[in-house]
Order: sequence, then structure tokens, then C-alpha cells
Amino acid sequence: MAKVRGKRIKAAQETAAGATSAALEVSGGSEWVGVGRSGIHQNGLFAKKDIPKGTKMIEYVGDKIIKAESERRGNEQDELGRPKGDGTVYVFTLNNRYDIDGAVEWNEARNANHSCAPNAATDILKGRIWLIAERKIKKGEEITYDYGFDLNYWRDHPCRCGSKKCVGYIVGEEYRAELKKKVKAWEKKEAKEAAKKKETAKKEETAKKEEVPQAE
Ligand SMILES: C[S@@+](CC[C@H](N)C(=O)[O-])C[C@H]1O[C@@H](n2cnc3c(N)ncnc32)[C@H](O)[C@@H]1O
Ligand SMILES: [Zn+2]
Repeated sequence: MAKVRGKRIKAAQETAAGATSAALEVSGGSEWVGVGRSGIHQNGLFAKKDIPKGTKMIEYVGDKIIKAESERRGNEQDELGRPKGDGTVYVFTLNNRYDIDGAVEWNEARNANHSCAPNAATDILKGRIWLIAERKIKKGEEITYDYGFDLNYWRDHPCRCGSKKCVGYIVGEEYRAELKKKVKAWEKKEAKEAAKKKETAKKEETAKKEEVPQAE
């Protein structure tokens, strides 16, 4: 199960507007971002207005659960999504004891998609998970962050972020060099197997044609 880990960023800048939107943020919504249809995958999170760098755009809210429960729920979510080819897991690592299960309707932040060239990052501030603007974001832009997945099960998570930096699969930035090597080796193996299959089929076809018809 690939758990959303999200890259931590350095000191997030408090903005005046961020401070006034506390009521909305606690409810899982935000004055900065809203849900819309994404070109990356189904729903996404989009800027409602221009957003300054460092803004705490939205809190990732949900049930605070211990690790054992988190493992159970994460696996359950993974299993549920698998038949659709979509292992969506909403469990987010909070600290050594607790995680946040964001699979609740009011958690709008759960809609943020991954990108290999993201404009946001997650950070944990005073025990709360925030999605923070890593640069100035224009109104209408999709909000994305690096899910930070490790190299386990990389083939289960194809990436459609469309960025020039995309490596084809959802893994954290620190794993991408290693992943490129794995993808290359895998593609080579696949090509070899496909060529072998083609060769066998060709041989079988030739053998069939050369078969002498039996006299009745
Ligand atoms: C937390 S959800 C994000 C919201 C999701 N788009 C939705 O409509 O429910 C995570 C799931 O979205 C999809 N997803 C997110 N980023 C993606 C990307 N860059 N490429 C392909 N699928 C992505 C994957 O199925 C992933 O398991
Ligand atoms: Zn990508």
C-alpha cells in the first residue's frame, strides 16, 4: 500500500488571508482552492484566485487514527480501488503514532493530484497537515504536489501529470533517478519477451505451412 507521504517543505510563510480563513479551513474547505475536473485524473483541486507563494491553501482533514487502524484502512482503500485500476489511498502520515484518514467527504484537499513538477507541497504545522503554495499560483491553475511514493509497487501508479519532468510513474522526487533505471530495464525485458513471442509464432506458422498433407 503506497501511503501519501508528501514532501515536507521549509518554513511556510503565514499570510494575513490564511489567518482569516480558519473557520473554512477547519471544515475541510478553503477560500483559496476548490474542486473541479482535472486533466490529470478525474477530480482535482484548482486555484479560486491568484495565490501568493507560501500560502497555507487548505488543510488535509479527516479521522485521526493509530498506525494499526491506518494499515487496515489503507489496505482496504487500496483493494477497493484496484479493480478500477485506481488504488486511491487517502491515509496521510501525521507522525510516528498517528495518521490522518482523509477519505471523508468534507476533506476537499483529498482531491489534489500528484505532479512530477508540482506547484504545492504538504507540511505538518502544529499537528495539522497543510497544502502550501511552493510558488505564485495563478487563478484556475490545478494545485498539485509530490505524493512522495517510494519505489514499492511503482508499476501500479502510472503518472499522467503531463509535465516535462514526468517519469511516467508516481514516485517521490528522490526516487526518480532510480526509477528511470528500473523503467529502462523493465522496457528492455518486455521488448525481449515480445520479440521472442513473435519469433515463436513465426516458427509455428512456417512449420504449419510446411506440414505434408497426410494421404487418406
Ligand atoms: C488522493 S486521490 C486524488 C483525487 C482523484 N483525482 C480523484 O478524483 O479522486 C489520488 C488518486 O488520484 C489519481 N492520481 C493522482 N495524481 C495522478 C497522476 N499524476 N496521474 C495519474 N493519476 C493520478 C490516482 O488514481 C491516485 O490514486
Ligand atoms: Zn508525472
